[in-house]
Amino acid sequence: MRKFAITTVAIAGVALMALSGCSSRGATPAGSGSASGFAAGSTIGVALPDKTSENWVLAGKLFTDGLTAAGFKPDVQYAPSANTASEQASQISTMYTKGAKVIIIGAFDGKQLGSQVKTAHDNGAKVIAYDRIIQDTPNVDYYVAYDNEKVGELQGQALLDGMKARFPAAKTYNIELFSGASTDPNAKVFFDGAMKILQPKIDDGTLKVVSGQTAIAQTQTTGWLAANAQTRMDTLLAGNYSGTVLNGVLSPNDTLARAIITSIKAAGKATPVMPVVTGQDSEAASIPLIMTGEQYSTINKDTTKLVDQAIAMVKELAAGKKASTNAGATNNGAVDVPTYYLPPELVTKDNAAASYANNPTLEALTK
Ligand code: BGC
Repeated sequence: MRKFAITTVAIAGVALMALSGCSSRGATPAGSGSASGFAAGSTIGVALPDKTSENWVLAGKLFTDGLTAAGFKPDVQYAPSANTASEQASQISTMYTKGAKVIIIGAFDGKQLGSQVKTAHDNGAKVIAYDRIIQDTPNVDYYVAYDNEKVGELQGQALLDGMKARFPAAKTYNIELFSGASTDPNAKVFFDGAMKILQPKIDDGTLKVVSGQTAIAQTQTTGWLAANAQTRMDTLLAGNYSGTVLNGVLSPNDTLARAIITSIKAAGKATPVMPVVTGQDSEAASIPLIMTGEQYSTINKDTTKLVDQAIAMVKELAAGKKASTNAGATNNGAVDVPTYYLPPELVTKDNAAASYANNPTLEALTK
């Protein structure tokens, strides 16, 4: 999905593009050119998906507090029921009808919001895609996220490194692969990032996906729901691991990692050596598991920093400026969306205390 990365030779050009907020090629988003600003006290809509991980729960509170402190009127909504895609679409419609100047969207389904963001633009609102890109529409002005492809790469590398450390005598490793919800564009970005690292090792025989399920469609977890990952892991273990050691599992986030670990333990596969299970989000429930080694790794994507960056963009837009970007652009299937990326950090028990030094709640869990 990432259209280009910053390289040494391209740095000057990229810096210029980042300053101007423009992408290097392709059409520019439909509404990003006309910056006229808006008054303090304006309504800012924040449409978040269902609460499938702690980061979404935290983001709602941080947006409410941060936008209020910055002098705006926040309208923060979640789409938490069964029919979340249409629910989120109608929440966004209400936001622009009520005059929101910017709508920040963590999409439930990246492909289902085309008509809402078009009408938002028609009503004069700017659209910022938060954490998840909104796909196949020119009506997205900015994207702010952690570098999700990098997240996947870190997960893939952690799986390899963890298995080498835990199974020093092994020459090959048996693994299984999990990805997130097919409605979330990030799920594919994480998986593709991880497979950049893992596929060459599958090809050379170092890694064996014992179930043979290597296509993303086979690995998906509907709704990012723990129960679905646990059921799939139960089935994989029952069908493929009788008398076979499991060395590791690529899990795309902590919620699913804990479900996978539960399944591994129930199937008696946690002994003599616990398989390496990756994760993401630094959820409070996973930190103690990382310290004991039950979960091998997570990713630190500090939600406070991501929300702060989104609010900084809103302030720039309110002042009639373009929002700052630092990572070129992300192609969303229709246009190149000017992008601000924050760097994710891999966390294992070795660096957990240092990585959470700015977060007393998480740091306390590393003791
Ligand atoms: C986020 C992850 C999160 C997942 C499930 C993704 O879009 O980037 O941090 O674990 O959604 O909520």
